[in-house]
Amino acid sequence: MSAKEPVAVKAHAKINAFLRVLGRRPDGFHDLETLLIPLDLHDVVTAEPGPGGLTLSVAGPLGEQVPPGEENLVMVAARALAEATGLASPSARLTIDKRVPVAAGMGGGSADAAAALRALERLWGTALEPDALREVAAHVGSDVPALLAGGAVFAAGRGERVHPVHVQTTSWVVKPLGFAVRTPDAFAWWDAEGATGPDAGALIAAAETGNDELLGHALFNDLQAPVIARHPEIAETIETFIDAGALGAVMTGSGPTVVALATHPAHADRVAEAVPGSFVASGPPVATPQPLSGAG
Ligand code: C5P
Repeated sequence: MSAKEPVAVKAHAKINAFLRVLGRRPDGFHDLETLLIPLDLHDVVTAEPGPGGLTLSVAGPLGEQVPPGEENLVMVAARALAEATGLASPSARLTIDKRVPVAAGMGGGSADAAAALRALERLWGTALEPDALREVAAHVGSDVPALLAGGAVFAAGRGERVHPVHVQTTSWVVKPLGFAVRTPDAFAWWDAEGATGPDAGALIAAAETGNDELLGHALFNDLQAPVIARHPEIAETIETFIDAGALGAVMTGSGPTVVALATHPAHADRVAEAVPGSFVASGPPVATPQPLSGAG
């Protein structure tokens, strides 16, 4: 059944506790393995009945950093869902309340797209099979299927092979840097000089059992060294976190944001105080991203 009321869905930021790049594929994408942990930090995507056609507006503290045009992943997701469900003239008024740092490696755009799929499924009353919905998500972007899942996941392939992982609650300190890294650039730099990190079985086990000491030591990202070669500020930020007592620190996604693991929320507060421009986040959020409002 379709909804008459606005449907609002949280779009959680993510971090990659590890990101292992296995190699470049013939299609130009890279096979990878990653443990993706959603954080409590989130945007909100709202879908409501519109006068006709699809419209998007972006508000919130970081709203001006995100163009609301057709290239926005929320619009791409909306069109892909309409096509997959056979809606010839889809109609919705979409809004993003933007709070997650943009082009920062925190999956903000992909999370918005995943939230838009959930919200529009509810608004339009479409009911794709989970596999079909994941396929739509993968078409929109490599991280979208993982963020559609709602909790922590191990993702493989291009990112679309997603397996839930029951990770314990973790306390993080997040430091966005004042520049963006384009994801294709990070992967191209890896092509030129990248290496593949270790099997992450022990790291995943540490996350599952809440062994933060081990997890902190084991964090890694194969894109980090190639990106640091162009942006040494990232290495300096990691060092600052370690000096401030973090258990470990790593670049997330294709960067440049650095995330540091703390033992508990009060420890995270202390680390954040010592690192100007950083803030505390925790993950994974307790609830999976269900609509905040709207007919159900
Ligand atoms: O899928 P998405 O649009 O997020 O990917 C952006 C770019 O990042 C791709 O065009 C590709 O250059 C790179 N990428 C990759 N391998 C992946 C995911 C992304 O090479 N698994």
